[in-house]
Amino acid sequence: MDFPMFHLDWLNDRFLIAIIAILHVFINHGLAVGFIPYIVWLERKGVKMASSNQITDTQWDDIVYRKMKIAFIITTSIGAMTGVGIWFSAALISPTSIGSLIRVFYWAWFIEWLVFVTEVVLILIYFLTWKSSNKSLKSKLRHINFGWFLAIFSWITMAIIVAILGFMMDPGNWNTDQNLLNGFTNPIYLPQLLFRTPVAMLVAGIFGMLLTSIMVSRKHQHRESLLRHAGQWVLTMIPFAVLGAIYYWKVMPAAMKANMSTAVGTIEFAQYYDLLRYFIIGACSTALVVGILAVVKASKIKTVYVFVACLGVFGFLGIFERVREFIRKPYIIGGYMYSNLLRVEDYPLYQRDGILKYATYSAIETITEENKLIAGKEVFMNTCSRCHTTQGVNGITQVFERMYGINKPFEANAMKVYIQNMHSARTYMPPFPGNEEELDALVAYIKNLQITGETLEGVQGSGIAISPHNNAKKVAESRMPSNSTQAPSLSQK
Ligand code: HEC
Repeated sequence: MDFPMFHLDWLNDRFLIAIIAILHVFINHGLAVGFIPYIVWLERKGVKMASSNQITDTQWDDIVYRKMKIAFIITTSIGAMTGVGIWFSAALISPTSIGSLIRVFYWAWFIEWLVFVTEVVLILIYFLTWKSSNKSLKSKLRHINFGWFLAIFSWITMAIIVAILGFMMDPGNWNTDQNLLNGFTNPIYLPQLLFRTPVAMLVAGIFGMLLTSIMVSRKHQHRESLLRHAGQWVLTMIPFAVLGAIYYWKVMPAAMKANMSTAVGTIEFAQYYDLLRYFIIGACSTALVVGILAVVKASKIKTVYVFVACLGVFGFLGIFERVREFIRKPYIIGGYMYSNLLRVEDYPLYQRDGILKYATYSAIETITEENKLIAGKEVFMNTCSRCHTTQGVNGITQVFERMYGINKPFEANAMKVYIQNMHSARTYMPPFPGNEEELDALVAYIKNLQITGETLEGVQGSGIAISPHNNAKKVAESRMPSNSTQAPSLSQK
């Protein structure tokens, strides 16, 4: 409404964010937040294992260095790019909510930036000075200390972002008293942080074990010991991850839990929800079994076992992110802004006057018989397109056909009744924000989509249309004291 609507009809907008975000979380948790402390821990072991005439066990140290090299290359390339990419894609698709988050978390974001830059500098120092620090015990120990610093800073970047993620799920008392501190102390923050931290360590341990089993030959003297260490690390983290998960589950509002079965798949897959639960339990048990095997009998570890466990824990992390994204629906910021980017408190105004009247980027303000389809398209863009495409993933024609039968012409009245009640029918959808005429236009547009198979272009392709009544000149005029065309506020009814 206040921003032009970017839209990817062939992909589904949320999907774009999801692909980038999930890839980023894999790298951030598995190769930075969890991995750095794991590597530093191993580096320190190398020093402890060294014979008296050595600074560190050079063979051991070399393997740990090579693991770090992989993490270094991936985190500073794909990791950093996807990290920035999340904000790029989210700001394109969801500019209003990002705008709100920036207002609340302005200083947090600024600090995040400083912490992130520090993290990048530390990772450069840590990796690039590794070999030269092996010259004396003093510089090796300093190097290890750098590593711990790096570990702390990469954890802090996550700790700040998790505050924002928790906030989006449930802002807590911020909805009544809007300040940064209340944003930070949202009820989901701590549980989610206490869940993510050990899960990141767990994923990193399994991934580290996978690297060992791939990189280090069976004959190598340190292979079994490295596997055993990874196993110890994994087994240490599992209980914390389980406790974190229980705590997290406990604070989750009931409405979110109710969304869970659709969240893991779609409506069609809701019946497989139980299967997915078993997948999660299976993934965690596989990690447990591989961890125990590595500790008890490392010689029996095969790359395939670790690979399966690795797929399992990464799959688990991916599902967790997808579910987290979904279950906060119908809100993008709990209780404050719906996923269609409209604020809850503005709804009564929209439902009375229609949304197009207040949209900056809409070609149409008053609906007539002639412009009905274009108006319907604008209404769809502003109220449905953040979650639905026209014909593709979660396509609007396809969800209506699922309800009313494939290839049967849609019946306008039934659709209207449904849309007016869509929030009660499916609580994860926001209520319809528009007025009667807009509902009419929307239905006409969707019926037309069914017949023509048309798709919908976002502003990146179609160009921008600015409402003739909401452009800068008109708005400035309406602010003049003598002017009476000002948008009526509800209290003046
Ligand atoms: C917050 C995201 C969101 C918004 C906004 C949204 N929907 Fe949905 N809608 C969904 C999801 C998710 C589904 C379930 C899809 C699935 O699992 O297959 C759905 C399903 C539907 C269904 C099928 C329901 C059923 O019971 O099978 C219809 C019809 C529908 N949406 C219409 C609309 C219309 C019309 C709009 C705009 C006025 C809209 N939706 C806005 C997320 C949304």
